[in-house]
Amino acid sequence: MNILLLGSGGREHALAWKIAQSPQLNQLYIAPGNAGTATVGINLPIAADDFQAIKKAVIEHKIDLALVGPEDPLVKGIADFFRKDGEISHVCVVGPDRQGAQLEGSKNFSKQFMQRHNIPTARYFSVTASNIQEGIAFLKSLNAPYVLKADGLAAGKGVLIINDLDEAVTELRSMLDGKFGAASKTVVIEEFLSGVECSVFVITDGKNYKILPEAKDYKRIGEGDTGLNTGGMGAVSPASFADAEFMRKVEERIIRPTIDGLLSEGIVYKGFIFFGLIKVNNEPYTIEYNARMGDPETEAVMLRIKSDFVELLKGVAQGNLNEKTIEFDERSAVTVVLVSGGYPEAYEKGKTITGLDDVEGSIVFHAGTAEKDGKIITAGGRVIAVSSYGKTKDEALALSFKNANKICFDKKYFRSDIGFDL
Ligand code: AMP
Ligand code: GLY
Repeated sequence: MNILLLGSGGREHALAWKIAQSPQLNQLYIAPGNAGTATVGINLPIAADDFQAIKKAVIEHKIDLALVGPEDPLVKGIADFFRKDGEISHVCVVGPDRQGAQLEGSKNFSKQFMQRHNIPTARYFSVTASNIQEGIAFLKSLNAPYVLKADGLAAGKGVLIINDLDEAVTELRSMLDGKFGAASKTVVIEEFLSGVECSVFVITDGKNYKILPEAKDYKRIGEGDTGLNTGGMGAVSPASFADAEFMRKVEERIIRPTIDGLLSEGIVYKGFIFFGLIKVNNEPYTIEYNARMGDPETEAVMLRIKSDFVELLKGVAQGNLNEKTIEFDERSAVTVVLVSGGYPEAYEKGKTITGLDDVEGSIVFHAGTAEKDGKIITAGGRVIAVSSYGKTKDEALALSFKNANKICFDKKYFRSDIGFDL
C-alpha cells in the first residue's frame, strides 16, 4: 500500500522508519518530512496543514492511507476534510476528526469529557472574562502551587505553574486578556497534583484499541529537571514505575472509559490517543490527552514494537484492530535529543551537522534538519534524537550518550541525565 505521513519532526522520522520496515508497504511519502525521512521514503514539499495540496498529492500518488503526526492538522479538521471530499473520502486518515481532536485542542472540552466519564483527573474550574470572580474564588480555595492552562493550543507554552496566589491572579487576568491570543480566552484552573508522570499511548479504530509501550519523557531543558519547558529532551521506555498493577488501573479507569466515552458520544476516533498521566499515591490521574503520538516518546516507543506497524494501521482503517496482535520488544529503548543552543528560546539554524556516519549501535532520528548542497544542516530547536536499545535502560542510555557525543554542530546541547530518576 501507499502511505502518506504528515509532519516533519523526530516523531515522524521514527514513524517513517517503522512503517518502512513493513513488507506491506509499496511507497511511503512524507509531507513535508526532513533530511531523515528522505532516507526511508519520498519527501513532498507540502506543509502538513495545506489541505488542498495534500489532496492533490493523495490523488497523484494513489495514497491508500494517511497518517497524521502533529496535532495542528487534526485540530484544523484534516480527517473531516478527507471524509467530505468524494475524490479522497476512500482514503483512511489515521488521526481523529476535528471533534475528537478537541481532546487535545481544548483543555476545557477534555476536562468536561473526563468529568462526564468519571475519569480520574485534577479538580478544575473553567474561567472566561464573564466569571473571573468565581475563578479567583476557586484559586483561593486551592493550595499552592496554582496551575493555569490556556484552553486552546499554545505551542506547548500554555500551562503556567505558579507558587504565589497574587501572581496567579495577575496571570489569570493576563491570560484572559489574550496573553496566548484566542487560546487563553478560556482558562482552566487546576488543582496541583504531585507525583511521577508517564506517557501512555493507545491506537484505536474507534471501538477496539491496543496499548503501545509506555514511556517517560523529560520536558525541562536543564539537568535534574530544571529550567524552561521544551518539547521534550529525551525519553525512556519502559517507565519502571508503570508496573502491571498500575497499568491495569490505567486501562480500567482511564483508557477503557475514554474509548467507550468517545463511542457513546458519537465521536468517531480513529488514531492515537496519548494519555499524559501522573501517579499519585499509586493511583493514576489524567493530566492531559493528546490526539497524536508524543515527541520524543515515539523515538523510543517505535523501537519497542515488534509487530508490523502497517498491520496495526490497517486495523484502524478497517475497524478490526481486535483481530491484530501487538508484540513488544522486551529490551529497554531510550532516546536522547540534541538541540540547538538557546532552545527553547531563540536559537540559530543552518549549522552543518557532522559525525552522523560515525554513530555505531544507535538509531539516529532527524527532527529539525534539512539538506543543503549535499550537507545536513540544523533547521530547528530539536535537531536529532539518538535512540538505542539495551538490556537495561542504563545500557541503552550509555550507548545514546556515546553516540550523542560523536554528532557535532555549533552550540549543540543535550541532557546527559535522561532517565536519572528511574
Ligand atoms: P499539559 O500541557 O496539560 O500536559 O501540562 C504541561 C505540564 O504541566 C505537565 O506535563 C505537568 O508536568 C504539568 N501539569 C499540568 N497539569 C498539572 C497538574 N494539575 N498538577 C501538576 N502538574 C501539572
Ligand atoms: N513529549 C510530549 C509531547 O509530545 O507532547
